[in-house]
Amino acid sequence: MHRYAVVGHPIAHSRSPEIHAAFARATGQDIVYERLLAPLDGFVATVSAFAQSGGRGCNVTTPFKQEAFALCTERTPRAELAGAVNTLSWADGRWTGDTTDGVGLVRDLANNLGLRLRGRSILLLGAGGATRGVVEPLLAQSPARLCIANRTIERAEALVDVFAALGPVEAVAPAALREPFDIVVNATSAELSGEASLWPDAIVGTRTLAYDMSYANQPTAFMRWARERGAAGVADGLGMLIEQAAESFFVWRGVRPDTRPVFALLRPR
Ligand code: ATR
Repeated sequence: MHRYAVVGHPIAHSRSPEIHAAFARATGQDIVYERLLAPLDGFVATVSAFAQSGGRGCNVTTPFKQEAFALCTERTPRAELAGAVNTLSWADGRWTGDTTDGVGLVRDLANNLGLRLRGRSILLLGAGGATRGVVEPLLAQSPARLCIANRTIERAEALVDVFAALGPVEAVAPAALREPFDIVVNATSAELSGEASLWPDAIVGTRTLAYDMSYANQPTAFMRWARERGAAGVADGLGMLIEQAAESFFVWRGVRPDTRPVFALLRPR
């Protein structure tokens, strides 16, 4: 039986073990998948000990994705562009790194929510690691424009410098946003707090799909905010979580699980 784990701090809330257990059952793969709490100063020691005790791979979550990137002797091109690793594979005494977050978001938008991304206007709120991980996969879908807005505009501009050669990406200060986008993705780490929103109402129109990368049992504050402003639809990041997990499962096992049954498992209606 091959062992895998998700590593983070905190980690108790992670739903990845349920997701991977469901994939393993459905595909007949003989694996176990556990949670590993790494001390904030002990990420490398934690994953090294896991590998020494037979671990084959890890998913990496907050706040260790950059440390995971640095740990790898080899990385996929998409991980290099993202500057982060969420999928570690251990073989021949070394770590290989990949990132599946970006493809997870694109698959959730395109396959699960049925959105066409080609020719659309997309706005990313935030310019941290979560945003950086999705810029290249979104540009690969040929949107008409991809705007990055951030409280600290310099961070958005730095991302544009990295990705400008790959497509129509631009940095915009929040106050300069004056029109609705087809898709608005909240990639900030902050729960939006009530009426004092940094984001102008104008970004949401009656054709806007508002997507929050975070998820909860109830609609998130960002989803409620967008709905109150007349968004055509709102979604949280549970689908992105499930799709990135499916891609990690594929990286490790070479088998692509069907993600649809897992939605019902994680969010029974
Ligand atoms: P992550 O890896 O989750 O993206 P990060 O790299 O720390 O985490 O980035 C956090 C993002 O959330 C940044 O875009 C940050 O904005 P700044 O670059 O201006 O700090 C954004 N963020 C965090 N708290 C915020 C808040 N209260 N209001 C607006 N944006 C916030």
